[in-house]
Amino acid sequence: MGASSTGVLHPILFLLLGLGMQVQAMTTVTAMVGDTVTLPCEAKRFGDLNLVSWRVKLTDTSIEQLISYSSSSSETKMKDIPEYKDRILLNKNFFLNITDVGIKDERVFSCFTLVGSDIDEVPVALKVYKTPSNPEIMALATFLNEGVLQKVGVCVVNNSYPMPNITWQHNYKDVDLSSPDVNVTNNVVTNKNGFYEIQSSLRYSSRREEGKISFTCMAIYFEGLNKTASKESSPVTLLIHYKSSKISLEVTPAQDVEEGTNVTMSCSGDGYPPPEKFNFMKNGEEKVVATDHYGLINVTQDDTGEYTCSEQDNPDIKDAVNVTVHYLTLTMNPNENVSKMVGENITLECLAFSSGALQVTLMKKNRVYQTPLRLDSLQYVHSGTYTCSAKLVEVKEMKREKTIIVRVEGKPRITKLTKKVVNNTKVITCVVEGFPKPIVQWSINGTAPREESVKDRKSQWSHKITVQPSENITVTCLATNAHGQDQDTVNLTAMRFKEPVDETLEQDPADPRDKKNDGKNDQAKVIVGVIVGLLIAAVIAGVVYWLYKKKSPTSKTKTNERGTADEIKKINKGDNNHTSGSSAV
Ligand SMILES: *[C@@H]1O[C@H](CO)[C@@H](O)[C@H](O)[C@H]1NC(C)=O
Ligand SMILES: *[C@@H]1O[C@H](CO)[C@@H](O)[C@H](O)[C@H]1NC(C)=O
Ligand SMILES: *[C@@H]1O[C@H](CO)[C@@H](O)[C@H](O)[C@H]1NC(C)=O
Ligand SMILES: *[C@@H]1O[C@H](CO)[C@@H](O)[C@H](O)[C@H]1NC(C)=O
Ligand SMILES: *[C@@H]1O[C@H](CO)[C@@H](O)[C@H](O)[C@H]1NC(C)=O
Ligand SMILES: *[C@@H]1O[C@H](CO)[C@@H](O)[C@H](O)[C@H]1NC(C)=O
Ligand SMILES: *[C@@H]1O[C@H](CO)[C@@H](O)[C@H](O)[C@H]1NC(C)=O
Ligand SMILES: *[C@@H]1O[C@H](CO)[C@@H](O)[C@H](O)[C@H]1NC(C)=O
Ligand SMILES: *[C@@H]1O[C@H](CO)[C@@H](O)[C@H](O)[C@H]1NC(C)=O
Ligand SMILES: *[C@@H]1O[C@H](CO)[C@@H](O)[C@H](O)[C@H]1NC(C)=O
Ligand SMILES: *[C@@H]1O[C@H](CO)[C@@H](O)[C@H](O)[C@H]1NC(C)=O
Repeated sequence: MGASSTGVLHPILFLLLGLGMQVQAMTTVTAMVGDTVTLPCEAKRFGDLNLVSWRVKLTDTSIEQLISYSSSSSETKMKDIPEYKDRILLNKNFFLNITDVGIKDERVFSCFTLVGSDIDEVPVALKVYKTPSNPEIMALATFLNEGVLQKVGVCVVNNSYPMPNITWQHNYKDVDLSSPDVNVTNNVVTNKNGFYEIQSSLRYSSRREEGKISFTCMAIYFEGLNKTASKESSPVTLLIHYKSSKISLEVTPAQDVEEGTNVTMSCSGDGYPPPEKFNFMKNGEEKVVATDHYGLINVTQDDTGEYTCSEQDNPDIKDAVNVTVHYLTLTMNPNENVSKMVGENITLECLAFSSGALQVTLMKKNRVYQTPLRLDSLQYVHSGTYTCSAKLVEVKEMKREKTIIVRVEGKPRITKLTKKVVNNTKVITCVVEGFPKPIVQWSINGTAPREESVKDRKSQWSHKITVQPSENITVTCLATNAHGQDQDTVNLTAMRFKEPVDETLEQDPADPRDKKNDGKNDQAKVIVGVIVGLLIAAVIAGVVYWLYKKKSPTSKTKTNERGTADEIKKINKGDNNHTSGSSAV
């Protein structure tokens, strides 16, 4: 019965459904794939409702009734359409529930009612959406070559409905599709579920200054009537490879080196990745290939030359460096320690040979001499260490040094023999020069006193003794070395007498009276002395005259006279012991 009534209605409904689909403001229901959707029935259904029926246009030519309810039979009838089998049911308001919505459900459905004898039919459109998979960049290039329009990768977005748009980002900014450096091609297919699978290929021409670029792709898709959303891929980073525009050759330790050193030549380029394979040439002749450095061990003059290096696959760009191997020899004339006698002549010379400009100096104790240095009539002060040094101007730290010791030898000579009264003692100083160092012996009246101290000063040696003579004595200083001897004597008076002022008597510099002395005072003293002397002489003359007149023979012998005689004897004896020598200084 239900089947027949449906059959009767068919032509009318078909007509109405055609009209309904032309209605502009149609209710549209949206759903995500797999959802359960409820389509509202907007046709009149109140009053004497005889029939409610949901219909769908399956193809251009066939409209099918999906489900119907007849109030007369209180029966819901479902047409046996495989597509909707078990997926539809009629809600209590005669709304249509469709479960597990798919793309094929994106259709216009209509709700048909028969109220009394009035018929009504209102269409409802169903739109279906499917959220795409996360975009993924596949077939990623390993690097980009500068200036080549090169495939970066393929952005794959699967299972989307309706078709999404794919955009590419370059360092997180949309790529400029109008740029000649960019080319994007999209390949769109639909899979068996009707979902879109899009493969978007990006090709990009990079510049070296970009260094490395991060790429992402984005899928922009609908998830409602006017509602879009987006999904972004994980970023990928690509490095840009480029050739060297400049090659540089470095020489360590320096371009100018000393013979025997090790030299390393290193080549580098400004390309990326940094080039490692270079060819090295010397004077245009290939030396080593496919290496980043070239080492020369224990270089000789033969290694001097122009060295170049170039990238193995780009021989036009190269760098050249001149390497010079230097030598420097230094000898001294004389070339070993020398001993010379005082008064002899010597010439000292620095002899340097080198491959470059030289600085040669001859020095003795921070004093610089010209070379050759001619020393005529050698003195002891000429003794010492002479150093020649030669320095190469081109090569820092390339220097040589030669040192010899010049010894000036000679027989001893007493340069000074002095006495000095100090603190009630007499200090005798004997200054001797000569080399090798003379041995000094003292003798006083034949005995050898112990020496107090020895003080060396330059080529002179000072010897000192302190005595307190009770009688007038003679002191001898005897200096001896391998070349001979010298001696000198000095007379000392007994402590009780005042030392006669002679050239051997040193004034005590500590004596304030002496310090204050100046020419005028001395003159005044001399004048006073002369006057006093004259007065004394006059007095003595008077006394002598008086004594002569008195003529007393007993008063002639005095202890004083005897003592004086003894002392003279002693000094004579001392003089006899020392045959040679003089007090000349
Ligand atoms: C029809 O679908 C709605 C959701 O769209 C649901 O709430 C309701 O329970 C369903 N009705 C039946 C009878 O299954
Ligand atoms: C997308 O679909 C293609 C073909 O079905 C498949 O080979 C690929 O693995 C899928 N990719 C993603 C990201 O789902
Ligand atoms: C992009 O590359 C494809 C294939 O090489 C080419 O057919 C197309 O014309 C290019 N598009 C642009 C804008 O250059
Ligand atoms: C994709 O791009 C086209 C053309 O620009 C636009 O009409 C469409 O709405 C876009 N789709 C989405 C999902 O944004
Ligand atoms: C360096 O070369 C010189 C001359 O060829 C040779 O006499 C010397 O032994 C070498 N030195 C080393 C460390 O190889
Ligand atoms: C010179 O004498 C010094 C000190 O006695 C010594 O160290 C040095 O080796 C000598 N030089 C020569 C060349 O004999
Ligand atoms: C030293 O040189 C001087 C003149 O330069 C010369 O008269 C003298 O004979 C030379 N002495 C010796 C020992 O050669
Ligand atoms: C003199 O002798 C005294 C006592 O022995 C001493 O203190 C003083 O330093 C001496 N003076 C000199 C100049 O030696
Ligand atoms: C000097 O020597 C003689 C004899 O050896 C001795 O008699 C005399 O006392 C000595 N004089 C002094 C000052 O030592
Ligand atoms: C030392 O005295 C003796 C005799 O008195 C004298 O012959 C001699 O010339 C004196 N020597 C000096 C250096 O004064
Ligand atoms: C000792 O010398 C002093 C001064 O030179 C002199 O006056 C005195 O007569 C001398 N004595 C003897 C014993 O020679």
